[in-house]
Amino acid sequence: MNETLRKTYGPIASDIQQVVFTSDEIQQRVIQIGQAISRDYLGRNPLLVGVLKGVLFFMADLLRNISIPVEIDFIAVSSYSPETRDQGYVRMVKDLEMPIFNRHILFIEDVIDTGLTLNYILQNLRARQPSSLEVCVLFNKPEHRLIEFPIKYKGFDLPDQFVVGYGLDYKEKYRNLPFLGSLQPSVFQNQKG
Ligand code: IMP
Ligand code: MG
Repeated sequence: MNETLRKTYGPIASDIQQVVFTSDEIQQRVIQIGQAISRDYLGRNPLLVGVLKGVLFFMADLLRNISIPVEIDFIAVSSYSPETRDQGYVRMVKDLEMPIFNRHILFIEDVIDTGLTLNYILQNLRARQPSSLEVCVLFNKPEHRLIEFPIKYKGFDLPDQFVVGYGLDYKEKYRNLPFLGSLQPSVFQNQKG
């Protein structure tokens, strides 16, 4: 058990092996991305579309660092098992509330690994004929990418390692950690099934 982390962050941090990015490091990067979006989308009233639930923290922090008028909407998709990278098809379980025809859409993702999820979503959104469709991702894991697409705004590249915190989960836990961390291997062994 990581005693130092546990003392600072409480029981939720007991399973963390290592801090990958601190809360401050993430915030600094999010400020930069927010500034770039504010500059690039000035006068275009973009709609920021996020995928629940992992994008929650990133969307909230990013929005507070964007200084132009924007609107937001969310979709939710059924997730495949990230441990096995089971490539079952992606299903949309919550659709957008707003029409996106003729609008500038900036798609906001917390993490991209194989790219299969994002590819499915982008195809779906593209069919609705937005004026433009760009991708903004906080954590990019390029090593297992199966489908490539252009990423306009990127926070960090990550090695092939499963990470949690800042909205990211393992079996729905650890989302509420303010930093990004790796999990002790024992967590994966103990919680099979
Ligand atoms: P992709 O389809 O392989 O790009 O996977 C994207 C989805 O898998 C993300 O939206 C996450 O829900 C999940 N995922 C991938 N890597 C991680 C990780 O390291 N931690 C938590 N979730 C992850
Ligand atoms: Mg996600």
